[in-house]
Amino acid sequence: MSNAPVPLAETESTPVLTTTMAHRGLSAKAPENTLSAVRAAHAAGARWIELDVQLLGDGTPIIWHDSGVRRCSNGRGKLRDLDIVRAKQLDVGNWFASAFAGERMATLDEMLALVNELNLSLNLELKVNPGRNARELVDVVLPKLMETLPAQRLILSSFSDAALDTLRAREPDPEKLHLAILYKKPPRNWAEAAARLSAYSLHVDWRRLNARTALAIAASPYKLLCYTVNDSRVFQRLRALGVDSAISDDPGRLLSSL
Ligand code: G3P
Ligand code: MG
Repeated sequence: MSNAPVPLAETESTPVLTTTMAHRGLSAKAPENTLSAVRAAHAAGARWIELDVQLLGDGTPIIWHDSGVRRCSNGRGKLRDLDIVRAKQLDVGNWFASAFAGERMATLDEMLALVNELNLSLNLELKVNPGRNARELVDVVLPKLMETLPAQRLILSSFSDAALDTLRAREPDPEKLHLAILYKKPPRNWAEAAARLSAYSLHVDWRRLNARTALAIAASPYKLLCYTVNDSRVFQRLRALGVDSAISDDPGRLLSSL
């Protein structure tokens, strides 16, 4: 029998990260943040996907990145001025490719049903665009998420301190709710911020991450993820620095370089 120390068992609720996550679904091959993009990610072998959630004007949680619909639909205007009936009239696929014409915005409920059907894990970004209410978003989405996905298959991320603080206030147990602080560039006090939030991970723009900070985070109790990594040489450099997962528009391209 070996006397080697037995590593602390990770609890059943601990996420099992993969080296890549599909950013907004497989957004290199399908319209971002749609059911098609998630099906494509799954078909390409992804086990984790990153998506954005926010509220329509009528309070319906919807999978969408921008504050408006112009870039990714055939419509115009702000999300906060749309209700679900008008949102569902938009074509959110044809802007990307005619093969996706007729695609509709996915509600959070529709997306969670698909995520469960495909047994995927979800890194959901609570997107608080300017002028929007972080607490309202949390109070609509958190109960749905916690009743639909086990803690192991869910990470909630945000750039918004108000969203993260509200999430942690609603669920103080870090094993029941894994939170990620999104940074464009990690501030000097990242460790203090992560400890205060009982965060699970830090998600950083790789372009603003220097080697020293990457190594410090990788050596900390917090997981380190980087977005948006689409270059295989960058991916390999980040892996060497201890980055746990790269959020990519096309994970297959990165993985084929290993
Ligand atoms: O969650 C990582 C990444 O999605 C953050 O930036 O603008 O692509 O939502 P963005
Ligand atoms: Mg995002």
